Amino acid sequence: MADMNINEVNSLHDTRISDYNIFLSTISKRRTTPALRASYDMMSKDAIFLSRGNPNPETFPIIESTLTLRDGGKLHLAGITMEAAMQYGSSAGDPEFRKWLIKLQRQLHNPPTLDDSRRPSSLDVIINTGCSEGIFKVMTATLNSGDAVLTEEYTFPLLFSTIVPLGARAVAVVSDDQGMIPSMLEKILSTWNEKTNGKRPQVLYCVTSASNPTAITWSLARKREIYKIAHMYNILIVEDDPYYMLQFNTTKVPTFLSLDVDGRVVRLDSFSKVISAGARLGYISGPRQFLHKIVQHMMCSVISASNLSQAVVFQTIQRMGHDGFIKHVENVRDFYQRRASMANQMAEKHLKGLAEWVMPTGGMFLWIKLLNIKDSSKVTEKAAKHGAVFNAGFCFCFDQTLSSYIRAAYSIVADDQMDKVHLHFLITYICAYNPIKVLVDSDDGYVSVMTSFCEQVGDP
Ligand SMILES: Cc1ncc(COP(=O)(O)O)c(C=O)c1O
Repeated sequence: MADMNINEVNSLHDTRISDYNIFLSTISKRRTTPALRASYDMMSKDAIFLSRGNPNPETFPIIESTLTLRDGGKLHLAGITMEAAMQYGSSAGDPEFRKWLIKLQRQLHNPPTLDDSRRPSSLDVIINTGCSEGIFKVMTATLNSGDAVLTEEYTFPLLFSTIVPLGARAVAVVSDDQGMIPSMLEKILSTWNEKTNGKRPQVLYCVTSASNPTAITWSLARKREIYKIAHMYNILIVEDDPYYMLQFNTTKVPTFLSLDVDGRVVRLDSFSKVISAGARLGYISGPRQFLHKIVQHMMCSVISASNLSQAVVFQTIQRMGHDGFIKHVENVRDFYQRRASMANQMAEKHLKGLAEWVMPTGGMFLWIKLLNIKDSSKVTEKAAKHGAVFNAGFCFCFDQTLSSYIRAAYSIVADDQMDKVHLHFLITYICAYNPIKVLVDSDDGYVSVMTSFCEQVGDP
């Protein structure tokens, strides 16, 4: 070691991935940059474009717009800004907006791969239409028919809707309130039989902050251990993290992106929960070479995220500045934290002894385990008839196995409705739980049921 120079020592510790082809699906490998789009990103702004079939903005009916912000401020879109917003643009997103987002990622996550070396693993950020599109594009880029994706037992079900048509499946790794259990992941990978199960999984999908549906946040210790295993088995981690900024704890758990010394994390962020869901805007951070494949897919699908949405959202957050944006999101977080504690109080009041739940660590969901009920869908069906719609837990498992859980979203239920919803739910719960259901169909059903219920099991 004494004879080595510093570069040699560094290269010994350099675990950066140098080629992402190993992770790519056949479809993705076949993708190339469409010749017409290539000219788009290549040329300087001052060039005279005879190469673009762009519509002439002089023919567009909208030329100017003023938007009023909640704080009374105004956004004014006019002139070349408006023209650009109404025009085609770069598939990877507005370059200035991307620079702003890279700075944000540096401030929030300080990713080890964020350097200027332009290595295949160097961090890049592209703008897309949100985490849903991110899931679709990343899964399409990585999965062939017969492949498997590692997930938590309960996860965001859009993943399943995406991978099933690709001929792929999810393999659930047992998880607890700290996140995926490393020994369970290691067991799956070390005992994987390629003859019977097909190729060993190369992709791990996770929702690590205030998860939808479980509302848990992975601990840092777990992330470190899972990352180590991903390193050992060369797995790409897809960190779908739209609730990262909505963690209730003021100290956020560091992300996989912030631990990513290899360049194996593809991180999905979204403006949906903090600026607008209708703008359909998000961003993907990950290895440059891999993201290039996603951009190629965008070139021949959506072309780019809406330039109008990009202009509106970028102006909004640019006006706030990076610190102001983070402050804005803290206010959003406080809003949901108040709602979470209200939902928790209602559950305490009405469901104690009938169900178990933990106070959400962030986000928008209360994840409730119904005691003595194997199939919560029976209860949710009844609750829906009584005017309170919840999601049954089976929706969030790949194989849709029976589940005792229900998901209650407290994000948009009006304050005065929250108590009512829980009462409705309690009634139907009691109906499913006790053979006294006839009574709830009468006008005074609630009172009758409560009386009978209390006589039998005590006052909840
Ligand atoms: C875990 C998770 N991923 C992705 C999404 C979709 O987000 P977007 O609106 O950015 O597509 C949601 C929205 O509910 C979500 O909960």
